[in-house]
Amino acid sequence: RILILDFGSQYTQLIARRIRESHVYCEIHPCTMDLASVRAFSPKGIVLSGGPSSVHDPDAPLLDKEVLDLGIPVLGICYGMQLMTHLLGGRVEKAEQREYGPALVQVDEPTALFQDIEREDVRVWMSHGDRILGLPPGFRVLARSDNSPVAAMADAGRSLYAVQFHPEVAHTPCGRTLLDNFLFHICGCKPTWTMKSFVESSIEALRDRVGRDRVLCGLSGGVDSSVVAVLLHKAIGDQLQCIFVNNGLLRKGEAETVERVFRDHFEINLVVVDATDQFLGRLQGVTDPEQKRKIIGNLFIEVFEKEAAKLEGTRYLAQGTLYPDVIESVSFKGPSATIKTHHNVGGLPERMKLELIEPLRELFKDEVRMVGRELGLPERIIMRHPFPGPGLAIRIIGEVTPERLRILGEADAIVLEELEAANWYDRVWQAFAVLLPVRSVGVMGDERTYEQVVALRAVESVDAMTADWARMPYQLMGRISNRIINEVAGVNRVVYDISSKPPSTIEWE
Ligand code: XMP
Repeated sequence: RILILDFGSQYTQLIARRIRESHVYCEIHPCTMDLASVRAFSPKGIVLSGGPSSVHDPDAPLLDKEVLDLGIPVLGICYGMQLMTHLLGGRVEKAEQREYGPALVQVDEPTALFQDIEREDVRVWMSHGDRILGLPPGFRVLARSDNSPVAAMADAGRSLYAVQFHPEVAHTPCGRTLLDNFLFHICGCKPTWTMKSFVESSIEALRDRVGRDRVLCGLSGGVDSSVVAVLLHKAIGDQLQCIFVNNGLLRKGEAETVERVFRDHFEINLVVVDATDQFLGRLQGVTDPEQKRKIIGNLFIEVFEKEAAKLEGTRYLAQGTLYPDVIESVSFKGPSATIKTHHNVGGLPERMKLELIEPLRELFKDEVRMVGRELGLPERIIMRHPFPGPGLAIRIIGEVTPERLRILGEADAIVLEELEAANWYDRVWQAFAVLLPVRSVGVMGDERTYEQVVALRAVESVDAMTADWARMPYQLMGRISNRIINEVAGVNRVVYDISSKPPSTIEWE
């Protein structure tokens, strides 16, 4: 396995994903990881990520220099290269010009790192302010660009390699080959990390850990909790008990689908609690988005706890925590500002005195989807768009009432139906309807109408951190609008949201 030491680059997760895509297991750890822990991890290779700092900053993140003396191959990327140079006695200086964007690199020495890569005019992606002007002793220049006399360097004898550009981004077309060269030719890794092997080994590990105890799992119908449930069911069968809370704020048909798939098809022990009345009761008169989230989050815990208390002898609670959440919480950077408090079940395990089981905490989202396929989950669930915990409540701007829920539920179902029919569902990150708190005048037949407005939201994104509005075909938008206005009583106007995130957000509340 490979160890990635993170110096704060926005691309660190991409490095990990590229390596995993080559079927080699890797983990990201903060650059402050001490020498003993690095040794204990026993990596076949180490990657030093890029980062926003300069080695000359007074508080620049450093690295225990002995990490470079372990005899383990190291690949420094961007800041990782500058740090390697700085620590080993080379010279790093501020470049006269920041180099940002595409660049052409000439390869002088086709060592193992550049095997199967062109030698001239290799397209790469640069993003740096400092550059290497003096090599550390023992190093040779492997490649250069106009602005970087050392675009890549190595001390092959010590297996230390470094590149100034970013092989992990798609704008460096030869990046995959370069990373593969590092993994397979320099580190001697074998491509054994597959989701099939993951499923096999985690089933075994889950059986070992759980023994004869019982595990509780909150099923939401989303990809992560679905995969957790089916994986655990494979491992421990009837010792798994799932609870699905229907808060009445779900998409049309959602509760039925969950029952059909998990109880009928997979034969998992499943309790479905219909708490619609409780949720709607507490939401009465509430219009503030954060207030809605709090009420829904708290009531969810209440309902879940009450249901769980009926099940005796439960020791574990299973959750669908993913690797990006884990990295986020170990990163050496502070957490970013709260824009919206995302509802999750964070407080549950402590209150319920249950031990946590997180079988997916090593996986990225695309890997979770592959595991889902491996386990035979239907494609509809595997490719399902993210759906917020507070559900339709934060898509009904203003007060949530049964009537407004009906309107939004019906409009939303039409959006999804039409998207699927036009093969657009998988092309967008999320698509949904929002019910606005305004009414507009219309004319139907010869009658004046004064009814509600539905906004259509469809975005493209890779991680929900940034998003852009989807350029859906006009015809598709037209069909959706037509159907909503004709079929959903109470709506006489549909508008399309063309804002990007930032400065807007994906949801309206
Ligand atoms: P925003 O609206 O912040 O959404 O751009 C980013 C992603 O997070 C989802 N989202 C939520 N998920 N509870 C959740 O579980 C929430 O309260 C919540 N608010 C937003 C949103 O659907 C999008 O995928």
